[in-house]
Amino acid sequence: MSAFQITIDGKEVEVAPGHTVLEAARQIGIAIPTLCHLEKCGPLTSCQVCLVKVVANGQSRLTPSCATLAVPGMVIESETDEVHEARRTALDLLFSDHVGDCLSPCNRLCPLQLNIPAMLRQIQAGRLDEAIVTVRQSLPLAGVLGRLCHHPCEQGCRRGVFDEPAAIREMERFLTDHDSKQEFRQSVLSMPKAASTRQSVVVVGAGPAGLAAAHDLARSSFAVTVIDRNARPGGTLRDVPQADMPAAVLEAEVALLAGMGIDFKTGIELGAQVTLDGLRRGFDAILLTVGELAKGAGEKLEVPLAGALLKADPSTCMASPPGIFAAGSCVKPIKQIVRAIAEGRAAADCVRLYLRGQSPRRPGKPFSSIMGRLEPGEMRDFLRAAGQEPSAAPCSRCSATNRAAAVQEAARCLHCDCRSSGNCLLQHYAQVYGADASRFRSERRPFEQQLQPAGIIFEPGKCILCGICVKLTELAAEPLGLSFVGRGFDVRVAAPLGRPIQDGLQAVAEECVRHCPTGALVFAEKTIPADGKV
Ligand code: SF4
Ligand code: SF4
Ligand code: SF4
Ligand code: FES
Repeated sequence: MSAFQITIDGKEVEVAPGHTVLEAARQIGIAIPTLCHLEKCGPLTSCQVCLVKVVANGQSRLTPSCATLAVPGMVIESETDEVHEARRTALDLLFSDHVGDCLSPCNRLCPLQLNIPAMLRQIQAGRLDEAIVTVRQSLPLAGVLGRLCHHPCEQGCRRGVFDEPAAIREMERFLTDHDSKQEFRQSVLSMPKAASTRQSVVVVGAGPAGLAAAHDLARSSFAVTVIDRNARPGGTLRDVPQADMPAAVLEAEVALLAGMGIDFKTGIELGAQVTLDGLRRGFDAILLTVGELAKGAGEKLEVPLAGALLKADPSTCMASPPGIFAAGSCVKPIKQIVRAIAEGRAAADCVRLYLRGQSPRRPGKPFSSIMGRLEPGEMRDFLRAAGQEPSAAPCSRCSATNRAAAVQEAARCLHCDCRSSGNCLLQHYAQVYGADASRFRSERRPFEQQLQPAGIIFEPGKCILCGICVKLTELAAEPLGLSFVGRGFDVRVAAPLGRPIQDGLQAVAEECVRHCPTGALVFAEKTIPADGKV
């Protein structure tokens, strides 16, 4: 048979005989998700996330595209609400007994989503230059937050269930105190930036929300000007008592922002020295972060009000007229600094989308499977690799000069995150399709981690039984190999005869780890010695 045509989402595609619907779709750039598909393994059809709808003779059926051969004249639907819903359900089912946290509890609770376990691993290993970049990439005004954040992350810290939470905020302070001594400024300033655009944004108001937005917009390579009616940037941060935060900390943060190319113009008030119309002529977008409005001050700003606040769409941060955005406590009451900074970040995201010609939208929450509270036995397992000492006294654990105390404190972290987070296909598609990991969840099985001397880690609770590793060992004619053992809900991947999993992976360990679509099979990280010196 020669090549023939099929139709996918209304587009005709020429297909060679023997090709699947998945291959045909990829030919025309339709990205159908797959988890159990690896070409050399042939169809395994265990995950069902690659579903498409086949329409023929007035009838239709959902079918896995990876295993469905294209036939002449076939009509396929892929990117429709109905098919997406079916894929979402397939993902929700895969999470029904998934045991793991993609993101650690502390990370999920940080309004700025700092990757806390990564930061703590870097401190523990003595890689402070990397740790400061981790912090600076997520936290605008990191030095301020290291002192003033109300640290909601620590309230969710698992270590706190055992003794005391990891001193996360103090670790940020430790790092940024080093940073202000110039030790790591170079690495911060040389952080990769997107190619320069010539679009410009003016941020009106240099409080926490405004400075955070300016930071993020400058990082996206927009030309950013910040104007403020006061003589110096900082807004309400200038009122913080010296004992809580020395003025030099704020100065260092503002200097860092200026070093990123942000142009500060102080002593300029909107409605007095400049008007909204004037700013609209000079800039491509305007972000109002003017803080709490004094009585009667709103009227001068020439944007619609809602009571005593500026009116802005909460999902887009857009005020009117177009191109004007508003965020922070001029839009809604905000008590905590980290929340004001997060609002500034959300507004910067909206401005960025607007300037790139896309619809502004606040970023959604990152997806995470959630394991919940640990049972005592599980806690013991998590504690095995962590430092046993209780948290050091605050004065010694936070001092910028006390590197050894910081390493010791960081070693207390239980590393609750998943090693595969960010590389996991299951997590990726769950985010893309808006999966609900709790939809079909019942009582969860215990968390189990098999640490193999050869450096492989197997976490059975994260295995979706895709079959790829089993098939790879078969194709490689592994002497022992892996297989499915057990029945019904108790089916597991294992080496036969109760042998450790590494015995089944003599030749293909690397290949199996690489193609495992989840964090079930991973290599252990480089071991970090107790003194943190590497
Ligand atoms: S394996 Fe993937 S989905 Fe599961 S916890 Fe890890 S990152 Fe999340
Ligand atoms: S133990 Fe570490 S990873 Fe776990 S919640 Fe606490 S700081 Fe986060
Ligand atoms: S461990 Fe094997 S069967 Fe389980 S998800 Fe990974 S590759 Fe698939
Ligand atoms: S069933 Fe097709 S990729 Fe899993």
